[in-house]
Amino acid sequence: MNDLLPRVSAPAGAESWLHVERWRHLEQTFFSHASRYGFSEVRPPLCEYTDLFSRGVGDTTDIVEKEMYTFEDRGGRHLSLRPEGTASAVRAALEHNALAREPVVRWAYAGPMFRAERPAKGRYRQFHQVGAELYGDASPAADAEMIALAAGFLSALGVNAFRVRVNSLGTRASRKVYRDALIAHFTPQLDALSPESQSRLQRNPLRILDSKDPRDIAAKAGAPSLTDSLSAEDQAHFAAVCAMLDALGVPYTVDPSLVRGLDYYTRTVFEIVDVSGALGAQDALGGGGRYDDLFADLGAAQPVPAVGFAMGIERLLLAAPEASVPRATRVAVVAAARADEQAVLGAALALARDLRGAGVETHVDTRFGSMKSQMRRANDLKVDYVFVLGGNEVAAGTVSLKTMADDVAPEAKQVTLTRAEAIARVLPASR
Ligand code: HAM
Repeated sequence: MNDLLPRVSAPAGAESWLHVERWRHLEQTFFSHASRYGFSEVRPPLCEYTDLFSRGVGDTTDIVEKEMYTFEDRGGRHLSLRPEGTASAVRAALEHNALAREPVVRWAYAGPMFRAERPAKGRYRQFHQVGAELYGDASPAADAEMIALAAGFLSALGVNAFRVRVNSLGTRASRKVYRDALIAHFTPQLDALSPESQSRLQRNPLRILDSKDPRDIAAKAGAPSLTDSLSAEDQAHFAAVCAMLDALGVPYTVDPSLVRGLDYYTRTVFEIVDVSGALGAQDALGGGGRYDDLFADLGAAQPVPAVGFAMGIERLLLAAPEASVPRATRVAVVAAARADEQAVLGAALALARDLRGAGVETHVDTRFGSMKSQMRRANDLKVDYVFVLGGNEVAAGTVSLKTMADDVAPEAKQVTLTRAEAIARVLPASR
């Protein structure tokens, strides 16, 4: 078994999140929702120099330390499959000088990401994200719009049982002060911390705060609060973000323990968690925040403020209601003819082509078995209408249109119409 990839097929009805129509619907909903906020799609590559992620995401993060799929190519270059999209998108923006063309750039993306995590429900080694990134705007309004975009997208998908957690990590300068305060707090209790947190203490003490190990939880009691070390400007920025979320009617909770697992964040961070229970332990549907230093870290001559988020597609599909994919009209063309009646079979194919040309999903069982077997196939495909063509219909230029829905009066169940009338009858607008 290839344990990098999620299983690609499933028995009908099982694990419905594997159904591609739901994926496509989700991505279309995301891009159409994001385009209303002015975001356009970008497609960064799946593979980048490893160095991009160690500098961008942070070389003391779990993602870079333990989870990247890293390899050397034939030219001896160190490459990694992307574990996330933010660093790649910034690299692309820098390389293509995107900010020379637009003062504010709004990019959206969807695609696979790779992290060597222990697979579990909602946690895979190849998983997929939809994400959005906004460059060139330092204002709290940009943060609030990103959170509103993420929350609005969830509602558009029919996912309503979620909670938005927000926090501010401050700028790097205020975080440095906080880091030192945390190290001073935890150092006397070093031996009581989990081994993981002991190794993190000097390198990344903030991560101890979101540890769920009981030893770390005990040691956290009385730890200094990040909120207290924020500068006045950081506090004003965060207060403005919260006020705008209030104005937008986005419900949220301020959670001072939210630190996130990537190093590039500054000021606002947020996470959206599922509260329906559909996801079990992996309840984070998405997360993001501001990252005003990342452009400079990756070589930009000028600092570029930035903010963004990403959401896990597999998790969204576990949380989204089954019926959230609108179903288009589906029809079948059935030839009431024997296999040697070429004129009828040809007319059936031509009718199906015309229906498809009009935008209708049309099935023809080109094995052209008996009328009964073609009807059985149409039934299995759950079509809404069947167009029946026999020798008489072909000669008269008509078709017998059968409506499959149960709630139709018997006399309307099967009617003879001209082909054009019958096609018009099944077009979505006339239903
Ligand atoms: P992240 O929190 O690492 O952030 O990932 C975002 C979302 O991707 C998670 O909330 C989760 O839904 C999904 N996800 C992460 N890992 C897995 C996995 N192994 N299996 C299934 N789903 C997973 C980022 O990736 C940042 N780049 C977000 C961002 C964009 N920040 C600013 N801009």
